[in-house]
Amino acid sequence: MTLFGEEALPREPYEVAPGAVHVPGWLDDEQQRWLVDSFHGWAAGPVPPHSPVVRGHPMSVRTVCLGWHWRPYAYSRDAVDVNGERVLAVPDWMVRMGRSALLAAYGDAGAAQDYTPDTALANFYDDTARMGMHQDRDESSRAPVVSLSVGDACTFRFGNTEHRNRPWTDLRLASGDLFVFGGASRLAYHGVTRIHPGTAPDGCGLDRGRLNLTLRVTGLEG
Ligand code: SIN
Ligand code: MN
Repeated sequence: MTLFGEEALPREPYEVAPGAVHVPGWLDDEQQRWLVDSFHGWAAGPVPPHSPVVRGHPMSVRTVCLGWHWRPYAYSRDAVDVNGERVLAVPDWMVRMGRSALLAAYGDAGAAQDYTPDTALANFYDDTARMGMHQDRDESSRAPVVSLSVGDACTFRFGNTEHRNRPWTDLRLASGDLFVFGGASRLAYHGVTRIHPGTAPDGCGLDRGRLNLTLRVTGLEG
């Protein structure tokens, strides 16, 4: 933990773009540790973390999926690009977490109650991992994406819906932060340009590295 680091400053909820809301410090320490412990449980199988291969290159993150397994660029129930096993179900607590995240971001109780994410992608970033600019567009539903971060902070780049170039906003996602993108921003390009090693706060459950969890509605049946 950095003394007098960025995380020591008060940070307020902020609408980065229409439908894209950053809620700093949304998860308390116990909730962050719960996500980390849960991730370790998911990583034990039946499908181990792996780096999805994009155009012949493994991504630098290590991913475990729940509900539906994502691979570039499709969802399936079985991890056909890993070991063929069916992924674990999305737990009920995670659906409730998604609903309260939506309420915190948008303040719309009805929309929050209707939100039922059926997949979650857990990505672990080591010191050098990154994620290039991309859209989350393999879902047939356009319901919002809920993103939660634990551990080291990252620089998150949130762009526009047209292409992966400027304009974009660079923001810092720190441990416990919530970011929701839906509505007019649902198909915005976004990525992680860098991890800030050594910024994970004491008590978050991770000594180093960053865990990101995104909840989504696939709109798929079966
Ligand atoms: C993602 O775009 O799926 C992950 C974003 C993040 O790690 O914050
Ligand atoms: Mn994404």
